[in-house]
Amino acid sequence: MTTVALPGEASIVLDLPSERVPTTRRYLMCAPEHFTVEYRINPWMDPSRPTDTALAVAQWTALKETYENLGHKVDLIDPVPGLPDMVFSANSGTVIDGKVLGARFRAPQRAAEADHYRRWFLSHGYTDVVMPERTNEAEGDFTWTGRHLLAGTGFRTDPLAHAEAQEVLGVPVIGLHLVDPRYYHLDVALFVLSEDVIAYYPNAFSPGSRKVLDRLYPNAILATEEDAACLGLNAVSDGRNVVLPKEATTLAEEIATRGFTPIPVDISELRASGGGPKCCTMELRD
Ligand code: ARG
Repeated sequence: MTTVALPGEASIVLDLPSERVPTTRRYLMCAPEHFTVEYRINPWMDPSRPTDTALAVAQWTALKETYENLGHKVDLIDPVPGLPDMVFSANSGTVIDGKVLGARFRAPQRAAEADHYRRWFLSHGYTDVVMPERTNEAEGDFTWTGRHLLAGTGFRTDPLAHAEAQEVLGVPVIGLHLVDPRYYHLDVALFVLSEDVIAYYPNAFSPGSRKVLDRLYPNAILATEEDAACLGLNAVSDGRNVVLPKEATTLAEEIATRGFTPIPVDISELRASGGGPKCCTMELRD
């Protein structure tokens, strides 16, 4: 509600979305210098289709500059040859209150990434770093809302990793079941815009998980099939500015009507691996 004063004593109360307040974030990113699609671990990946590493680097650089222009701090980890998916930093750690829960990848092709990130944390001042015993693809499947950790399973992260995350991070975990292989990680099916607003694609979830989301967020933004299919939900919000793939036009309009500012980016080359802006962005909540 916003009260607008009129001339004289009068005023009117308008039901406008309240002012959205951005907060400065710190992100960890990894340049896609060795990016390619050479194996297939999700339906987006087609190793027979050529990739353009220079284009991936250019799009990723623009994403990084977008964050910096919004006032966020971006830390970098060195990319490692032979790990083409290392650009997807979101998959390698969940950081809440400075405590780090690392990753354990399902696919053997990605397994080595976890230790590179573990060593990055240890050499950058993090002292509380726990590596999981269960398959855990970190922010690929874990989304912190400010109150709960929404936790996906079905394709990658082991449901037993949810209990492990709750114990290690000391936060309440809410498990959600993913059912469509195109939306193999939670972060391609749902994202948090602010503590009270989330967006998701209902068909990516089991009927029970849809009910859970509806109970927790009755006013959530429900994404269309088209917006989900360009990985439009793989978006990053700072509480006001929402960085999302440029093809997600209906979602961008809906976001704007809720008082957020959509910031479209071109991330088409990384989509060939099933990734978008969020996949390239691990949030360091120190
Ligand atoms: N090719 C990668 C994989 O299948 C893409 C990961 C995208 N990351 C994400 N957070 N959804 O593992």
